[in-house]
Amino acid sequence: MRTAVVLLPALAALGAYYVYLPLPGTMSEPWKLMLMDASFRAIQETCNLVHYLRLSHHLTVLNYVIGVLDKLESPSSELVKIQDTQFDGVEVRVFEPSKKEDKALRRSVVYIHGGGWALASARASSYNNLCKIMTESLKAVIVSIEYRLVPKVHFPEPFNDAFRAAKHFLQPDVLAKYSVDPGRIAISGDSAGGNLAAAVCQQLSRDTSVTNKPKLQALIYPVLQAFDFNTPSYRQNMNMPVLPRFVMIKFWIDYFNGNPDFAHSMVINNHTALDVSQAVPYKGHLNWSSLLPSVFKKNYKPVIQTTGKAEILREIPELLDIRASPLLAEKEILQLQPKTYILTCENDVLRDDGVMYAKRLENAGVEVTLDHFEDCFHGCMIFTVWPTDFSAGLRTRESYIKWLDQNL
Ligand SMILES: *[C@@H]1O[C@H](CO)[C@@H](O)[C@H](O)[C@H]1NC(C)=O
Ligand SMILES: *[C@@H]1O[C@H](CO)[C@@H](O)[C@H](O)[C@H]1NC(C)=O
Repeated sequence: MRTAVVLLPALAALGAYYVYLPLPGTMSEPWKLMLMDASFRAIQETCNLVHYLRLSHHLTVLNYVIGVLDKLESPSSELVKIQDTQFDGVEVRVFEPSKKEDKALRRSVVYIHGGGWALASARASSYNNLCKIMTESLKAVIVSIEYRLVPKVHFPEPFNDAFRAAKHFLQPDVLAKYSVDPGRIAISGDSAGGNLAAAVCQQLSRDTSVTNKPKLQALIYPVLQAFDFNTPSYRQNMNMPVLPRFVMIKFWIDYFNGNPDFAHSMVINNHTALDVSQAVPYKGHLNWSSLLPSVFKKNYKPVIQTTGKAEILREIPELLDIRASPLLAEKEILQLQPKTYILTCENDVLRDDGVMYAKRLENAGVEVTLDHFEDCFHGCMIFTVWPTDFSAGLRTRESYIKWLDQNL
């Protein structure tokens, strides 16, 4: 009994310590976010233990657990017809409005889901719901790409899958089959899916065999570069749920099947130090001193190492490949991009990736809408269903769909 009296408060204190995170005063629904984050961390740490014991890859286990928690499959509704098929050998889930309004051609969005190139699915209820709601509110055909995930495949395979499926869909006869207006197609995605969407858009814009180009791209808190992990947003939010800086760097390394030990060097930008010659040509593309407004720069100073570790880029040259880091593309490519929407959250390591891409596109003459949310966190747009429902999720989703409705 006496032991219990001592142990219970101790356990409660330990639990509170595990759950509690100092969050900025502007964050909406902070306690709910802390609880969700603590659960997510506990699951991730268990997966890391399984990985450490060499029982399975941590990302395989994590994706399995997420799949169990989030029931896959969700039947067509009265309003939306859902069909799983393949585009050029790549699995896709196509959502169509059930009512075909006469012979009118419909708008369309090619959607690429997020999850660090390793997690989630077009069939996960979160993404399935998002696409259903988009189909209903936009009366559009949504093509959600089921690209293959890390660790089963690595870069460039997820990119290649997304590109092949999008290119297949853009062919005139395929569009005709789905009654899609060739002039009203958007490419979109969130987080790692936003990374793939931006990279697919760049590749489509340069591919002369693609005659029908997308009208828009819409990127939700996209990952766009692996060059600088010390942007103001990476530093300000290094411990922010649901995506701390170190976790993002690990996702990058796993994307390339690189050595996980490099993460500690990449945190301090040792991979792009001044003495690493491969990185030099890109320095100007990613100069946040000139690309970010002062409200985002605050008092942060660039972290530029004089001497670093050249072996990282020697072993993982793909870190500078624009199909992985679209923010590093030349101006000649940027100016070919369609009208763009970028959604960013203040409490997100990736805020500045999005803000810098918006600025570089604008400098290249592209029309850009930057939709910034001061009280939101990374990944919020898919958290709309109990028990992980957030007002941040509903508000970002509404704003995103509204922009598509007005511009597509
Ligand atoms: C980055 O931009 C700042 C401010 O415009 C400028 O002073 C600096 O020389 C630039 N650095 C590089 C590497 O281009
Ligand atoms: C960064 O690189 C420098 C120079 O090679 C090295 O001395 C330092 O240990 C490295 N730091 C990390 C964390 O890798």
